[in-house]
Amino acid sequence: MIEIIFTKDGSHTLKNLDLNETYHSIHGAVQESLHVFVRHGLEFVREKSLQKISILEIGFGTGLNAWLTARHLQGVDMQVEYETLESFPLKEPVWSKLNYAEEVMDKELFIRLHLADWNSAVQVSENFNLHKKHVSVQEADLPLSKFDLIYFDAFAPEKQPEMWSHVVLQKVVAAMKPGGVFVTYCAKGQVKRDLKNLGLSVEALPGPPGKREMIRAHKS
Ligand SMILES: C[S@@+](CC[C@H](N)C(=O)[O-])C[C@H]1O[C@@H](n2cnc3c(N)ncnc32)[C@H](O)[C@@H]1O
Repeated sequence: MIEIIFTKDGSHTLKNLDLNETYHSIHGAVQESLHVFVRHGLEFVREKSLQKISILEIGFGTGLNAWLTARHLQGVDMQVEYETLESFPLKEPVWSKLNYAEEVMDKELFIRLHLADWNSAVQVSENFNLHKKHVSVQEADLPLSKFDLIYFDAFAPEKQPEMWSHVVLQKVVAAMKPGGVFVTYCAKGQVKRDLKNLGLSVEALPGPPGKREMIRAHKS
């Protein structure tokens, strides 16, 4: 069961009532996604002046991260391949009620992201190619050394520990290019230690409002 709720910045999130867990921070869904994934992930990788980047997201959910990323890159001279894994795609009656996009153009982009077929690569805007995969991260066949940037946006380790297991993190890290960057809203000590043990160098950065820290990690 899923319920739409407001977060403190006025943007919606969803609450999974079975897990008693929200899809985003209750302090601000848009604020959190912008801070963790766009500012400390995408913007950081853009400093490398790459012409093309590949992003892997764990958990497409509401599509908020994908939409903010595509919107942020409109008019930017960089091609993005955005692959995202999701076990439980949302149905239209849920995603169509989310209040993220206000302007007409933004709404069109949000709808295109959601209506894009699952399990095929779709060019949703000039420089944004979206491949939504209806598969769990555990079952997904991830290529080695492909991604410049990982958006690790699973439910919290307390609620879904299997998403943060050594096996899953190892598979995701193996899918990163050398020089690739991993970002997550989570700042748990165990996750930092696990990423370090997998060979990443780990930074703790200030978190979005309401959260002390987040993690950014680098593959050398
Ligand atoms: C924290 S929410 C993701 C938020 C999403 N990035 C957004 O912007 O709305 C976690 C997502 O992971 C999905 N999920 C749960 N188990 C999964 C699994 N084993 N593999 C992939 N995705 C999973 C959930 O259905 C949910 O959409």
